[in-house]
Formats: sequence, structure tokens, C-alpha cells
Amino acid sequence: MSRIAYVNGQYVRHAEAAVHVEDRGYQFADGVYEVCEVWQGNIVDVPRHLDRLDRSLRELRIDWPMARAAVEFVLHQVVRRNRVRNGLVYIQVTRGVAKRDHFFPPEDVAPSIVVTSRSSNPEAAKALAEQGIAVVSFPENRWPRVDIKTVALLPNVLAKQNAKENGGKEAWYVDSDGFVTEGGSTNAWIVTRDGTVVTRPADSGILRGITRAAVLELIQSEGLTFEERPFSLSEAFEAKEAFVTAATSVVMPVTKVDGKIIGNGHPGTVATRLRELFHTATDLQAV
Ligand code: PDD
Repeated sequence: MSRIAYVNGQYVRHAEAAVHVEDRGYQFADGVYEVCEVWQGNIVDVPRHLDRLDRSLRELRIDWPMARAAVEFVLHQVVRRNRVRNGLVYIQVTRGVAKRDHFFPPEDVAPSIVVTSRSSNPEAAKALAEQGIAVVSFPENRWPRVDIKTVALLPNVLAKQNAKENGGKEAWYVDSDGFVTEGGSTNAWIVTRDGTVVTRPADSGILRGITRAAVLELIQSEGLTFEERPFSLSEAFEAKEAFVTAATSVVMPVTKVDGKIIGNGHPGTVATRLRELFHTATDLQAV
């Protein structure tokens, strides 16, 4: 079965799917995106992802490429046509195709939309979660508007590549005050020695993760002690547990930061429990 992508109104073979060379996403990274998890034949938290897409588009003054309900329909179609049961669905909207010029294009230039979907291996993810991942810190060097989910991810690419080259699976950005902001493509969390779950508030320095929001609800319903405040790298070294969250990895335990073992070096009980319960706190749309 060949993979299918949706590009500006058409379902096309993934191998041949393309946008114009003067798409502003390609030339200026002038676009936004969302990644939704597909879990057991359901798309996870579509309303929350489309709310955030709406916010990102507004912040950049890009129009919706089509009605929100139509975007939702296409998400389902692309997942279904690719027969994805577990994996992700990706949506990207850019300011459209126009001759290269930094100024916004004329009003009649339509935004571009691309939707793709791919399968992942739940067994491999489970094995990784049972082992935990290593993260490698990196100086925060991104623009201040990381609350907008733009496709301008070059700093994230470099930070994550640095992590990989130093034995890690994720980077943790550290700001000039020594506080962890977030991961290269995840939100960052610790559990302190007294069992308090800590993550940075979403009002500055981070993307307001959709997985983060569901985990926050879960923490409350489970009656865990919780603080939304910045934590430093040195506090992370002393933590009982650490973990990261994102649509691509849900709740992923962190067992090493900059080569230092966190807790007992194994995935913590809080992270493991939050991972197990995660989908009870989400909106599931059957495909
Ligand atoms: N990344 N912070 C950053 C910088 C991210 O790129 C992401 C998501 C998150 C977590 O957000 P959410 O829980 O909504 O997935 C936090 C996506 C998955 C990616 O770029 O692949």
C-alpha cells in the first residue's frame, strides 16, 4: 500500500507530494504546524491541537487554509487512507506561494496546507519508556515567541543533534538564569525528592504542550502534589525523577541529564504511572 499525503486540496502519493519552490514555508519558515498522536485507531486531542493551531495562525496573521471542520475531516482521511493505528498525523500551514519578498504577499495568496501521517511501533516506544532516555542540556538560543508552534525549528534541530552526538535522545534548553525551559521537541518535568511534580509555567519560554495539559489534569485527578514553576538544571540533577512530554512520546521517563544519573537511574514511579494513565485524560476521536 502506498502512503498518501494531502496537499492543498488533493490526496496524492506521498512519494510525489510536493509544494512549490516559492512556498513561504520553504523560503522563510513562514508557517505553523501541529502533530497529533494516533493511538489505537484514535486521533488524540484534536480539539486542543486545532485550538492551538488557531492561536498560532492568529499570532502570525495567517488565515485558515479552509474551515476548521474541513481540516478535521482531512486529518481523519489521511490517517484512514494510510491505515495508521498507532503513530502520528502532521499538519502544516504556511502563508502560501508568492514571489520571494519578505513583506506579506497580496491578500489573494492562499495559505498552503499539507497533512501527512505515519505509523510508529508501540512496542519500541514501550521498550524505550521502560529504559528511559538521556537528555543533554543546551543554552537557550531561540526567539522569545516559542509559544507559537512555527516550522522555524533550526535551533531545535541543532540542539537535538548535539544531544544525539552526546548520547542523548533529547535536548533540554537552559536559559541565562540556569533554568530549564523545555526540550527540543518536548516539555520538561521533574519530581522532587519530596514527591512534588514540577514543570515550568507556560507563560514564557515554552510551547504550551497539549500533552502537558492532559498530564496536568491527570496530576490533579490523581491527587499528586504539583508546582508550576521554573526548575534549574542543578535541581534536576538532584531530582527523584525526570520526564518529558509530547504528542510523539507521550510521557517519556528521563534517567540521565548531562551524563548524571537521575534518581535510581530507572524510570520513576510517577512518570510510569502518568504514562500508563495518559489516554484516560485525553479526547479520543475514532478514525
Ligand atoms: N513537538 N515543546 C516543543 C518545542 C515542541 O516542539 C513540542 C512538540 C512540545 C510538546 O507539545 P505537545 O505536547 O503539544 O506535542 C513542547 C512536536 C511533537 C514535534 O515537533 O514533533
